[in-house]
Amino acid sequence: MRSAKIVGLGKYLPPRKLTNSDLEKMVETSDDWITTRTGIKKRHIVEKGMSASTLAKYAARQALKRAGIKSSDLDLIIVATITPDTQFPSTACYLQNHLHARHAACFDVSAACAGFVYALTCAWQFISTGFYKNALIVGSEVLSSITDWQDRSTCVLFGDGAGAAVLTSTSRGGILSAYLGSDGSKGDFLILPGGGSRFPSSHETIDQGLHHIKMKGNELFRIAVRIMVQAAKKALKKAKVPVRDVKMLIPHQANIRIINAVTKRLKLTPEQVYVNIARYGNMSSASSAIALCEAWEEEKISRGDVIVLDAFGGGLVWGSTVIRWI
Ligand code: UT7
Repeated sequence: MRSAKIVGLGKYLPPRKLTNSDLEKMVETSDDWITTRTGIKKRHIVEKGMSASTLAKYAARQALKRAGIKSSDLDLIIVATITPDTQFPSTACYLQNHLHARHAACFDVSAACAGFVYALTCAWQFISTGFYKNALIVGSEVLSSITDWQDRSTCVLFGDGAGAAVLTSTSRGGILSAYLGSDGSKGDFLILPGGGSRFPSSHETIDQGLHHIKMKGNELFRIAVRIMVQAAKKALKKAKVPVRDVKMLIPHQANIRIINAVTKRLKLTPEQVYVNIARYGNMSSASSAIALCEAWEEEKISRGDVIVLDAFGGGLVWGSTVIRWI
């Protein structure tokens, strides 16, 4: 049975860092509140003019170099993002142009914080059916562009960044299973209301702040833990892999308290769970991608290991992927 394996990982974080003490000067907050309630200490923020495709380009180049695959050999590029360069063309098309990946079909996936898991699942399906051989998937976000910097309940949470993975066809190991889910009835829990066809940008939408993220944090928190535990278990069951065999869980990095609760409910040890939220905050689709890349860079993943990606976000959407690393 043909599957897809990851053969190269890359990441890019814009150089500018915004610390909790920087935020203390912008809104009524404290390092202590942010640290204890979220686990975040700092986040990276782009300079003006840097868009999702720029971040994606740097992450993708690193992943391609590590994979030893030329951009001209890519059949498919999927970018997961909720902060695309423009509504259209897709950010994947901009990225194709940056990389000169002339033979690739390109599209974006809009699945918020689960975007990387959704994109990975799409690429896996294209590759395992034999339709394509080589794919590039990227989670890239400039969340600072949709953050209300006067709203302390959201502005302390988010950061910018991109993570990329190159996949190719394999006849053993690689992606073993995936599970995806959605609940559109709770779309207003995490939403960017303005700028689409429902509320096209106007002076009025800007005055009402509809171009900024709106979030019901408490409601999301409660659902996130339950859904992430369920998603990981369902994906592992499909792969016929017991939880005890998991070498590394790569959870979405929204809140350290969510990650700790998921760790406990899955009966994993902290060593089995990759966490980098303190350095970067919540980067939506880029969080899982960068966490996976760093776990590999830090040699926490070796050949034969079972890795589980597990993400949850606005939509609502969630998903989990089980990979045997080869
Ligand atoms: O990315 C995927 C989807 N996202 C998530 O899954 C996020 C899930 N939710 C969360 O991570 C948490 O709900 C938050 C971190 C967003 C909020 O933490 P919380 O413990 O749920 O805080 P809260 O919203 O219940 O607020 C508690 C208090 C409030 O004050 P009062 O009303 O109790 O007086 C807030 O006004 O904390 C206040 N507060 C702050 N205080 C200092 C809210 N934001 C801040 C802040 N600094 N930045």
